[in-house]
Amino acid sequence: MPTDPYWNHNVHYHSWVLDQVPENARTALDIGCGDGLLARKLATRCDAVLGVDIDDQVIADAPAAPNVHLEHADFRDLDQTFDVVTAVATLHHVPVRDGVSTLRHLVAPGGTLAVVGLWKMHPVTDFHYLPLLPAIWGIDRWRHRSYGGPSVALRDPQETMGEIRAAAAEHLPGAEIRRRLMWRYTLRWQRPR
Ligand SMILES: C[S@@+](CC[C@H](N)C(=O)[O-])C[C@H]1O[C@@H](n2cnc3c(N)ncnc32)[C@H](O)[C@@H]1O
Repeated sequence: MPTDPYWNHNVHYHSWVLDQVPENARTALDIGCGDGLLARKLATRCDAVLGVDIDDQVIADAPAAPNVHLEHADFRDLDQTFDVVTAVATLHHVPVRDGVSTLRHLVAPGGTLAVVGLWKMHPVTDFHYLPLLPAIWGIDRWRHRSYGGPSVALRDPQETMGEIRAAAAEHLPGAEIRRRLMWRYTLRWQRPR
């Protein structure tokens, strides 16, 4: 795989996302695909990748790649299903219940959902995250020369980890959710066959 053109807190988790792609996955969807960097990586594992983003300019500026189709769309308007669905730093752009209930229906039976998300820090329930700060600062300092990313709208997360877990328990039963370094959590869910 070619070297990444840039690094940031989202690219940091691309290898985790790729590790979640099942061996037999043929189709993939990346929601909030930005410049399509992850979609192009998914195309090394899947025959057909669709990336969608609500920002038409970022889609227009994205490089073309074989087996990758990028489209200007709101993921909540899609009605296909995919063997693997990914969402990196995008779920917090919509209300979490709305987002996870839509994602559930985009995953084909037996398929996998892999989310890298942001949550709203809570001073009490996230207190144990504080010891991780030196590690985050260390990685940021180590990688600062390669820092970059697409020019897209950013949004502060509005939901706490408790609210995200509650929405996942309702719509994605059995989802594995873990807080991670770089202010991110990962969520993995497999849709029953
Ligand atoms: C923080 S950026 C992350 C972009 C990319 N996933 C990355 O890791 O670089 C969030 C992206 O989600 C897109 N987005 C927000 N709401 C969306 C929606 N409802 N449907 C599709 N894309 C959406 C934004 O336009 C933006 O490109």
